[in-house]
Amino acid sequence: MIKLNGGVTDKTGFFNAADPFELTEEYGSPLYVYNERILRQNCRELVGMCGYPKFKVNFSAKANSNPALMRIIREEGLLVDAMSEGEIFAELAAGFTADSILFIPNNISEKEMRFACEHGILISVDSISQLEQYASLNPMSRVAVRFNSGVGTGHHEKVITAGKNVKFGVSPENIQDVKDIIRRYNLSLAGINQHIGSLFLEKTQYLKSIDALFDIARQFDDLDFIDLGGGFGIPYHKMEGQGRLDLKDLGDSLAEKMTRFAVEYGKGLTLTVEPGRYVTAEAGLLLGAVHAVKYNGSAKYVGTDIGFNVLARPVLYDAHHDIEIYRRDNLISGKQECVNITGNICESGDILAKNRLLPEIFEGDLLGVLDAGAYGHVMSSNYNNRLRPAEILLREDKSIQLIRRRDTLEDLLRPFIML
Ligand code: LLP
Repeated sequence: MIKLNGGVTDKTGFFNAADPFELTEEYGSPLYVYNERILRQNCRELVGMCGYPKFKVNFSAKANSNPALMRIIREEGLLVDAMSEGEIFAELAAGFTADSILFIPNNISEKEMRFACEHGILISVDSISQLEQYASLNPMSRVAVRFNSGVGTGHHEKVITAGKNVKFGVSPENIQDVKDIIRRYNLSLAGINQHIGSLFLEKTQYLKSIDALFDIARQFDDLDFIDLGGGFGIPYHKMEGQGRLDLKDLGDSLAEKMTRFAVEYGKGLTLTVEPGRYVTAEAGLLLGAVHAVKYNGSAKYVGTDIGFNVLARPVLYDAHHDIEIYRRDNLISGKQECVNITGNICESGDILAKNRLLPEIFEGDLLGVLDAGAYGHVMSSNYNNRLRPAEILLREDKSIQLIRRRDTLEDLLRPFIML
């Protein structure tokens, strides 16, 4: 096998000794592949990023809720957040205890709220009406509140989650309402949290948002924690030499800010961060097969089985993923060309990469879509009645473990009721 553009996986040793062709023969194509060593490294880097003594890392499971991966993440000492009862369910299955889960839902039903309460899971509510609903169900209990600190950031407007014109969080203007409900129902406010958005590579906005969150914290007497949310970015443009977020530097700034705030507040609050992408994105790669290559007009189309049902990010956010090419024989054309890499879904928008300059690609090649371990499989669907891919884990001992089987045709029909 030869690799073209393969510098990244060569450097990280992503495949261990495995051969991408053998993997897709065994587990089908497309295929999500994860590397255990890289996953553990990411976890350790996060846990070690900040010297503040009461520092915790909650994995944001929406990035990847495969229970086998969450088990590893738990072993590495991370706690976890949840967005839905389904995530709670998967996290409990992965061995997280109720007290290591923070439920941060948005617009949930009373039933879903009860589910969390019955499992003894702390909830951070997202609006005054949900605080009132929570309080009436659970007077005299602990609760947290998600605030909108007014500072947002992110790689696309769809993932900026604080600031003006976003649906998330309680506005600081409503602090008095929060206090009134807390008093009326004898609640205790355990903590406040925020999430300003997803994917930043430099720390300015994150640090700015903390000052805004401190202003909110000052108005409550006896908090236990402050949760700053996630958003830590990874470089998706590695092949162009894009730099990394300096985690250690961010951690040092956080420690300094928290230590100073502890003196003022009269108590050292627990500091929680909540990364999703940083934990799993680079530990995952999506393999797919090239089935057809053609020209329509002057544009060259490389037709693959990586439709937006398999990886939604490029179509949803115009997101870029670097692409490696794997070839069975030793055919090297030496030619570079601009191509559109498309999937097999019946929509013209089903494009994985537009006008991308790549070495010439042939039918029978495999593509390796890098950094696919976050918001990849979790956002996949059965659109066009396509089967969602298997997920496999390349273990530290070089063994290969199936951690989610590929859908079967029968799976597609299972929920339906025939007339
Ligand atoms: N905490 C909360 C409350 C969140 O809503 C999120 C992400 C996170 C933490 C983790 O953010 P991260 O560290 O992964 O950036 N599907 C989009 C990303 C959506 C993120 C939504 N919230 C993408 O593929 O880029």
